[in-house]
Parts: sequence; C-alpha cells; structure tokens
Amino acid sequence: MPTLFIPREREAGETRVAATPETVRRYVKKGIDVHIEAGAGLGSHRLDEGFIEAGARMVADPEEGYAGADMALKVGAPHSDEAALMPEGLLLAALLWPLNDPASTRLLAEHKVTAFSMDRIPRITRAQRMDALSSQSNIAGYKAVLLAADALPRLFPLMMTAAGTITPAQVVIMGAGVAGLQAIATARRLGAVVEVSDVRPAVKEQVESLGGRFIEVETDEALEDEGGYAKEASAEFLERQQAVVQRHVIAADAVITTALVPGKKAPLLITDTMVEAMRPGSVIVDLAVEQGGNCESSVEGEVVERHGVTLIGHRNLPAMVPYHSSDVYARNMLAVVEHFCPESEIVLDFDDEITAGAVVAHAGELRMELPPRPEEN
Ligand code: NAI
Repeated sequence: MPTLFIPREREAGETRVAATPETVRRYVKKGIDVHIEAGAGLGSHRLDEGFIEAGARMVADPEEGYAGADMALKVGAPHSDEAALMPEGLLLAALLWPLNDPASTRLLAEHKVTAFSMDRIPRITRAQRMDALSSQSNIAGYKAVLLAADALPRLFPLMMTAAGTITPAQVVIMGAGVAGLQAIATARRLGAVVEVSDVRPAVKEQVESLGGRFIEVETDEALEDEGGYAKEASAEFLERQQAVVQRHVIAADAVITTALVPGKKAPLLITDTMVEAMRPGSVIVDLAVEQGGNCESSVEGEVVERHGVTLIGHRNLPAMVPYHSSDVYARNMLAVVEHFCPESEIVLDFDDEITAGAVVAHAGELRMELPPRPEEN
C-alpha cells in the first residue's frame, strides 16, 4: 500500500492544506498510510488531534515526511529546499501553474518527481470531482463580493428606515464563469442590483436565473469554442464592449472583474479613464490581476486608491476562506488519489486523458512545453 504525505504549506499567506480529517479517514479506509506534518492544518483551523483521530501519523518535519513517501499532496508548488527532499519517483499533486512558474516544474523534473498539476486537469465530465480551479474560483467569487462590500462606504441592500430610504448598491460583474456566477449570487444575496457582461451569449440565461441583468454587446463574432470556453475577442469587439459597458461601470458602486480566456493574458476591460470617471469611494476587485488584470490601474497583490476609487488586487482569495477552500480542495485531491490508486497501488497510465493532460514532469523529463528560461529569452 502506498504512503501518502501531506506537508505544511510554506508559501507566505498560504493558509490552505491539501487534506482534511474527512479525506484522511477515506485514505486510511482504503488502506493508504497517511503521514502529515505537525501543524499542517492550523492555517485552516484544523488541529493535529483531528488528523490523528482520523488515522494519520504525525511527522515533525518534511525531511521525515518525504522520506519513504510514494505520493505527496500540496496546495502550491514547492520551493527548492522542499523539492530537494522529494524522493525520486514521488507522485506530487499540487497547483503548479507551469506556464506562470516554469522554474518549479523544471526543478521537479530534475528531482525525477512525477508532477501532477491540478490546474492542467482537462475540464471533462469525468474530471469534475478533481476540478480545483472551479472549487477555488467559486470561493474567490464569493470573497471578492465581501471584500467589495467591506471596502465600499455605502450599503449593499435597499433599506427603508425611519430616516429615509437607502437605495441598493449597483454592482457590475465582468465575466460570468465560475468566479463570476458565484459573485452574482453573493451580491444578489446582499441585496445589490447586479449587471453582468460576458462574451459568451450562452451565459445570459444563467445570469438571469441568478437575478442579474445581462449587458448585451451586439456582435457577429463567434466567441465561444466547442468546449464552451471563451475565445479571444478581437480588438474591435473589445472596443465595442468597452463602449457599451463603460456607462454601467461608471455608474457602479462596485465592479468585480473575472474575465479570462484560457491560456491568454486577461482582456483589458476597464481603462484608467473609466476609473477616473467613477464616483469616489467606488470599489473594483480585479480577480484577473495575476493574468495581467482586467483593469488597467489595479496592482497585483495590493489594495491601491486611484482617482478616489479603491482597487483590490489580492492574489489568493481562497486562502482568505481557508476552512472551506481546504475542504473542497482536499476533496478534489481525494478524487485525484482515487484516480491514480484505484486499488492498492499507484497506476500511471499515460493513455488516460487526465494523466496525460496534467502530469507535467515524469522520470526526469518534462511532458509539456514550458516558457524559456530567462537566459534563453
Ligand atoms: P472561467 O474561465 O470560468 O471564467 C472566465 C469568464 O470570463 C468566462 O465566462 C469568459 O467567457 C469570460 N470572458 C472572457 N473574455 C471576456 C470579456 N472580454 N468580457 C467579459 N467576459 C469575458 O474562470 P474562473 O475560474 O471564473 O476565473 C476567473 C478569474 O479569476 C481568472 O482570472 C482566475 O485566475 C481568477 N481567480 C483569481 C483568484 C484570486 O484569488 N485572485 C482565485 C480564483 C480565480
């Protein structure tokens, strides 16, 4: 039976953990030996005792944990000192983002680790239970609205009081994918009036069923691929979209941007001139900030003020809701472990679409093309 190790995350600000007592219990029931680093669950408010009760063995440090491990589950990519502890042939599953952070994937290949990148899992029905991008984006969409509501000097809901009526906040959501749909639902629950822009006409119905109003941009362009994903819009479309959406953004109290085309830089939807035209005190939460941002003025990892508007560019919103983001991430991981270990041993089948798509390094070789090293540019 394989041994599974869950280390404590070492990245600053990372509060999530890749297993919970619930999933540990399932691994143990399958006969898997689970080793977990002491304190690994503290950031998500899970004590060591809970893991021990579920059947895990505590280890004091990653040296001890990685020695003899067949599989390891993590949230983020390991730093070099952690990767150096990984034994040859280890199967590591984590959000590696090889296109944004090719160095970590190269490092894992050098250490002959089999690296399974959670963000590369094909979005097919069979892989839905493993889909950590969706589970985490859902939470990010929720948290983005709470951050906007908190930063806004106004109320979200309509209030009829003896001191007069307070009108509801106007919220614009750009991009109605996983994060955007949850943002719509959350803003509606808080009582805001919600308007939504997306390039895929198919989402109009979903937006309306959540109580949002869809902002139509007329076009003959087919902006959705066969898989249901957005295609990169032309410059003409983006210009037309900006012209239509502009007046809604300017009138908004809060704007949440989540627009993304897979594998591309995020489309620029809000210019600095639009920010300047917004009311002072308004808020923009730019979820796409790590992909270059949907808003020209947002700054990655920071909250800044521009023309009196608060621009929120936090990177890791799921880590701000660590209990439940770990809960769902750990369940995604459970599905990954069940995929590789249907019986009592690890099976690597590169004819399988999920394994072929998401294993980015194996036996010392890279299994995908990475951006060049800086010195090769
Ligand atoms: P998704 O792929 O499900 O949704 C993206 C949506 O944007 C799609 O509906 C697409 O049609 C739409 N879109 C594309 N171009 C557009 C345009 N020009 N105008 C309007 N809509 C457009 O992606 P998901 O999972 O919802 O993630 C959204 C963004 O949030 C991504 O950039 C993701 O990296 C980011 N994110 C950020 C987090 C953070 O903590 N900062 C956490 C999770 C996700």
